[in-house]
Amino acid sequence: MKILVTGGLGYIGSHVSVLLLEKGVDVVLVDNLDNARIEVLEQIERITGKRPSFEQVDLKDQSRVEALFETYPDLEGCIHFAAHKAVGESIEQPLLYYENNIGGLVNILKPLTRQGIPLIFSSSCTVYGQARELPITEETPLQPSTSPYGFTKQMGEQIIQDSCKANPNFKSILLRYFNPIGAHPSAQIGEYPQGVPQNLVPFLTQTVIGKRPLLNVFGSNYDTPDGTCIRDYIHVMDLAQAHIESLNYLLSSKQNSSCEIFNVGTGRGASVLELIQEFERATGEKVPYELSAPRAGDTVAAFADVTKIEKQLGWKAQFSLQEALKSAWDWEQQIHVLS
Ligand code: UD1
Repeated sequence: MKILVTGGLGYIGSHVSVLLLEKGVDVVLVDNLDNARIEVLEQIERITGKRPSFEQVDLKDQSRVEALFETYPDLEGCIHFAAHKAVGESIEQPLLYYENNIGGLVNILKPLTRQGIPLIFSSSCTVYGQARELPITEETPLQPSTSPYGFTKQMGEQIIQDSCKANPNFKSILLRYFNPIGAHPSAQIGEYPQGVPQNLVPFLTQTVIGKRPLLNVFGSNYDTPDGTCIRDYIHVMDLAQAHIESLNYLLSSKQNSSCEIFNVGTGRGASVLELIQEFERATGEKVPYELSAPRAGDTVAAFADVTKIEKQLGWKAQFSLQEALKSAWDWEQQIHVLS
């Protein structure tokens, strides 16, 4: 079986590529190297003993995308990760986000829909905004997004749903990720933020290793048990496995409808302070932090109802928060050695 993985050198794409290769799937990995390092290809090969086909293609280039499908006429599925993902940057440079995230998606949908190649799309729990009720199910109403990044996820979902309606031989699964953290157990691949990390866990591990003086806990007077925000943190290996189950499901023709949506989380919420405590327990390290002002635009609490994915795909998160945090720490120490 041959599967196209766009953004395959990125954080989640690299972990999914490893699992696919380990299952004997032929992976065609595409990346424009905008926000990923070519070294990840070597690391994927080191972990799996297999080298995926690699094409440096920018999905904004329609002719290169079409040429890609001519080079690989026997693709059986596509997992589409290639997108920008920084909320703040998307507010500063909205056109960059619309052009890349929407333009790239449209370009790849043309050959996919024409050839009836099924698609798994990386969506995000950001589409729910601050949900009125928790946990969040797939039926929870979406809120207007507060950033162009969030809009590209909502629009991306809509574009794919419309494409499924218009093309009876085209199927898709939209995966709404909650908060992916952690790294491969080998500590050979993981999240590699460029510049100052915006997300909690890479900022935390960089602080503990001494790259940053202090972790700011954004907001401590929220209406939550300890006053800090709550999220559903999921180990990237669990998230990667959810893609494998989604692919099996897509290819097995068991789907109820041509476009299905699944939340991918653990179903458990953890506050920022709980996460810090769990990190300290898992690693024996002390986290230097201080309580500071809330971050504009933050959702107070979000965690998933995972009933649908458990029932339909038979997938369930296996790793604990401590295991995920320990793997993030192992990875941080590894990058420290490399850099
Ligand atoms: C953020 C994005 C979301 C995106 C996701 C991708 C925002 C508002 N949301 O989600 O759209 O899909 O990343 O992974 O940017 N925190 C701190 N100190 C820090 C960093 C974060 O206290 O230095 C807190 C935040 O306030 C939040 C929690 O940690 O409560 C998680 O933050 P983060 O990792 O940035 O994820 P989200 O905000 O959930």
